[in-house]
Amino acid sequence: TPSIGLVGWRGMVGSVLVRRMLDEGDFEHLDPVFFSTSNAGGDAPSFDGVSPSEPTLQDAHDIETLKKLPIIVTAQGGDYTKAVYPKLREAGWDGIWIDAASTLRMADSSIIALDPINRDVIDAGLEAGVKEFIGGNCTVSCMLMGLGGLFTEGLVEWGTAMTYQAASGGGAKHMRELVTQFGDIHGAVSTELADPASAILDIDRKVLETQREGLDAAQFGVPLAGSLIPWIDADLGNGVSKEEWKAGAETNKVLGRGDDLAPGVERRGEAIPFDSLCVRVGALRSHSQALTLKLREELPVSEIESIIASGTDWAKVVPNEKDATMRELTPVAATGDLTIPVGRIRPMAMGGEYISAFTVGDQLLWGAAEPLRRMLLIAVG
Ligand code: HSE
Repeated sequence: TPSIGLVGWRGMVGSVLVRRMLDEGDFEHLDPVFFSTSNAGGDAPSFDGVSPSEPTLQDAHDIETLKKLPIIVTAQGGDYTKAVYPKLREAGWDGIWIDAASTLRMADSSIIALDPINRDVIDAGLEAGVKEFIGGNCTVSCMLMGLGGLFTEGLVEWGTAMTYQAASGGGAKHMRELVTQFGDIHGAVSTELADPASAILDIDRKVLETQREGLDAAQFGVPLAGSLIPWIDADLGNGVSKEEWKAGAETNKVLGRGDDLAPGVERRGEAIPFDSLCVRVGALRSHSQALTLKLREELPVSEIESIIASGTDWAKVVPNEKDATMRELTPVAATGDLTIPVGRIRPMAMGGEYISAFTVGDQLLWGAAEPLRRMLLIAVG
């Protein structure tokens, strides 16, 4: 049974990862060594049916201990990667590093792992000795899990995504903040709401007052409940947010296109121009995005739908009708499920080769944990 190191398994992404590994019985073939940044020497967690040969938590900053493992999976975050990864390599470690953080994603030495889309890129990298496999940005992974078929068939000339991203993308504290804000807003007007005769404009005014002055917005910086934030991640100083830059750069790297490819990965073609406008909305953990794609040729909608549906085993076409859309194409419908619904597929007024689509994906499943657990199984062989 191969030993693997697990770092950051207690956090939000790590917990979803471990849950998925338990559900799929992955630990039957693996011997996990649990690391901790805060409680080394404590008891390793006990999960049903998992009996690690190392019963205590190991120190996640102890290079000598980390070095013994052939594969390390981390969901601890970018700061941890920055602090530990270079030291581990300097110490001569030549194992495989599987990481959820963005730190190494666009490094020349790494591959973005999303095997239902780029198994060929992953295999070429493994063969060439690539040792860094990084989970993609959540929006990118969810988009490709839904619409990947059109990309891998080479049908997309360019694309743009308008995103509606959930609070979970910021982290656990951000989710708590959003729900607390909803509660505080309700609390400010609950008396008026209970009275059917109260004036809606009074409620509206009180809600706005609460949003402007009465909400804890320490995590997001501004209120999110009942509002939205049209900027995600760092300001790159050129009018582009880091999240928007990632969408273009990572989509192409996943597909093996463009110039940012790991050694041994043959270039699959020119980069596809892909640009976005990324917006945070008050959804809890599923990211949505509205896409406009310019296809290389005009195709009947039925053919586009069948290419999308067969693009990955998880993509599911939702008929472009009101009822089906409202039932199946929302964050509430998609959360907790690996299925990636794709709907609103239709040609646009600009011409038959311009199509719209809307997709939703659980930001913690395909957006974070699932590509890592699958990459781990591939790396174990
Ligand atoms: N940057 C993403 C977001 C999450 O803030 O929604 C991580 O990929």
